[in-house]
Amino acid sequence: MYPKIPLEELANEYFDIDTTADLLTQEERRKISDISDWIFSQAFEIVGTAQYNNIGLRCATDRVRNYLLGLMTANAVRYAKQISGREVLMAELGMGAGITVQSALAVEPDTRILAYEQDAYTIEFAESLLRSKGLLDKVKIIQGDFLKETFPTNIDVVVNENIGPDLISEPQFQASARIIPYTHEKTLFVPGGADVYLVAENNRSRKNGILLGRVDFSRAYRSPIKLEAQIPERMLDDFGKYFPYCFMLSDLLDCNGRRFLTEKGENGIETLRLMKIIYHKFERYSFVRSPKSDYCLRLYISLEGDDPGIVYSAAAYLKKGL
Ligand SMILES: C[S@@+](CC[C@H](N)C(=O)[O-])C[C@H]1O[C@@H](n2cnc3c(N)ncnc32)[C@H](O)[C@@H]1O
Repeated sequence: MYPKIPLEELANEYFDIDTTADLLTQEERRKISDISDWIFSQAFEIVGTAQYNNIGLRCATDRVRNYLLGLMTANAVRYAKQISGREVLMAELGMGAGITVQSALAVEPDTRILAYEQDAYTIEFAESLLRSKGLLDKVKIIQGDFLKETFPTNIDVVVNENIGPDLISEPQFQASARIIPYTHEKTLFVPGGADVYLVAENNRSRKNGILLGRVDFSRAYRSPIKLEAQIPERMLDDFGKYFPYCFMLSDLLDCNGRRFLTEKGENGIETLRLMKIIYHKFERYSFVRSPKSDYCLRLYISLEGDDPGIVYSAAAYLKKGL
């Protein structure tokens, strides 16, 4: 059976709920926590018993993750409504189990939602949950590849969170690039972006990592994205030793670009695996010595695909000495 610790209590360990949901009432937060847990229990039955490997459902079996994304989406929809003064058009790229869809409707029932999803089984699952809540007719579900779709213009909120457990090859950046032409200057993205860190595998804390830079999901990047950071010499050993296992820890940002992970959140890898966003998406990285005798790491994130081989060749390079 899954753990029964109250969700708010559990989630507070990992992120600052007041920041993530500053426009929602306690009652609305509770509704979203109920939705998250209900979908969690439904997905858990399927994934747990049938070992069903579908990504959308696997994502739904993380209680904190569900709740975080539900809150972020609901807050963004509320904010979009406040600034536009009309009903909001939301598009979700990869509807999955429909957690974010249900969360948006829980706080702004007149939200118009276009939900794109390619997996037929996931759609069946999400539809059955929406139907049982009487919400199915409020969502237009489009089965297909969102990278090939055209969208209506005037989308106010884009939910593009293809970044969950084992989703490293999901097309977050390509999805953004695809939908950006259909957005307007006030369109909100959920999540808004991520601060990207380099951390050693043995010490997965932001505090001990190096901030490489920020990626903003409302921007269409050209591949590769270049991130750079100075590495103090004293840290080099750690990175040298553990380099094959270093990974990118990303601090998610809300739709307004605010960070909300707590100190504990940065170690909550098992719960909030969202943070693995860019792992293995390296195109290349290199160290150069700066005039101040620190080292500068230049890292390029490829937007097209993964190449773990690069990680290992860079590790070999490091062992040979810089
Ligand atoms: C991380 S899950 C989304 C979970 C969702 N936010 C929820 O509330 O349950 C990503 C979903 O995107 C879908 N997906 C991935 N790539 C896709 C594509 N190119 N076109 C359509 N759907 C896609 C996957 O099948 C998966 O269900």
